[in-house]
Amino acid sequence: MRVVVGVSGGIAAYKVAHLVRFFKELGHSVKVIPTQTSLNFVGAATWEALSGQPVSTSVFDAVDEVQHVRIGQEADLIVIAPATADIVARIAAGRTDDLLTATVLTATCPIVVAPAMHTEMWNNPATAANVATLRARGFHVMDPAVGRLTGKDSGAGRLPEPQDIGAFALDIVGRTKDLAGMHVVISAGGTREPLDPVRYLGNHSSGLQGTSLARAALERGARVTLVAASMTAPVPGNVTVVPAGSALELRERMLELKQDADVIIMTAAVADFRPAHYADAKIKKADGSDELTISLVKNPDILKELTSARRESGQIIVGFAAETGDSQGDVLYHGRNKALRKGADLLVVNEVGEAKGFGTADNSVVILDNEGEPLGETSGTKLEVAHAILDQVARIAAR
Ligand code: C5P
Repeated sequence: MRVVVGVSGGIAAYKVAHLVRFFKELGHSVKVIPTQTSLNFVGAATWEALSGQPVSTSVFDAVDEVQHVRIGQEADLIVIAPATADIVARIAAGRTDDLLTATVLTATCPIVVAPAMHTEMWNNPATAANVATLRARGFHVMDPAVGRLTGKDSGAGRLPEPQDIGAFALDIVGRTKDLAGMHVVISAGGTREPLDPVRYLGNHSSGLQGTSLARAALERGARVTLVAASMTAPVPGNVTVVPAGSALELRERMLELKQDADVIIMTAAVADFRPAHYADAKIKKADGSDELTISLVKNPDILKELTSARRESGQIIVGFAAETGDSQGDVLYHGRNKALRKGADLLVVNEVGEAKGFGTADNSVVILDNEGEPLGETSGTKLEVAHAILDQVARIAAR
């Protein structure tokens, strides 16, 4: 495996010598790309000796080999350790002002980021927002360890131990190929049900759980098509995007794609109802009336339609259920009933409400089987939740 170790300018850079050794001893090829400032802590000679490869920091070295593009394209894994607040910010901004950031921007492999900085910097809203951006884009950002920092202070911000970073990275790479050769079709985002030429009925879905599933499926070797309703989450590269506006459009797209799909995942928040009549002209305020009544009609249940007309040869269908508890029963009770009704192989149930599920970086779900029995409970980033769902998909696929 070709591993790129990116080293940014923090004192914990010295510990990364052990990380380079860790990968080398497992037989991997390691290319170290330090930032210019990191050379104040550990010099290029150390990295060259440990990795056995030349080291440069700038896109203007070895220009004839087009290094700034080639290294990223060829890498199987990139680990950035230590990752300072500055490199996290530069990557989040999509900058390419040195060889490391250019490499990150051209890479399609998993990227692990191991932050190390003072607690104040880690807790700063700017860093928190940058870390959230990276996680939403599918970077695997570790939480820093808690303990003694450079000076007399201690707190969150220590570089995790090199062997922990190595093991974390290998776990991510090791699980990447169990969906190889499969076509995964994912619907994501929220549908918009048109009312008139300027208005629609919509919902809060950001599409982040769907795009995280897309990224996770790519990492595990699948070919991925994303049927994208309205969404704000960034779509990973290498995904075929099929736009879909309303529930009826989304249904059309899913029916077109279903024959060629080995796995279908319906994360989209599909509107249950749409306006019964589409007004060709903008609806005007009527003089003397303070009310407007909009009649709604039911949308077709796409998930149900897909499960009742499955492709002959094995197709795995996953549904989602955003639930709230009520007087009839709790979230799981409703989830179980829905699993039985929808006929999917897996139903992913999450509780929604204020700051839960919609638009948040994290999610907490229970995965039910086709009989509504819980297979497991997972909390974490939406990418971690995505992998937990795909663990179950891969398990069914292997049967
Ligand atoms: O019935 P409910 O909307 O709670 O079901 C949620 C699941 O069903 C999701 O997987 C969603 O994508 C899918 N769905 C659908 N067609 C609808 C409504 C929901 O496929 N009209």
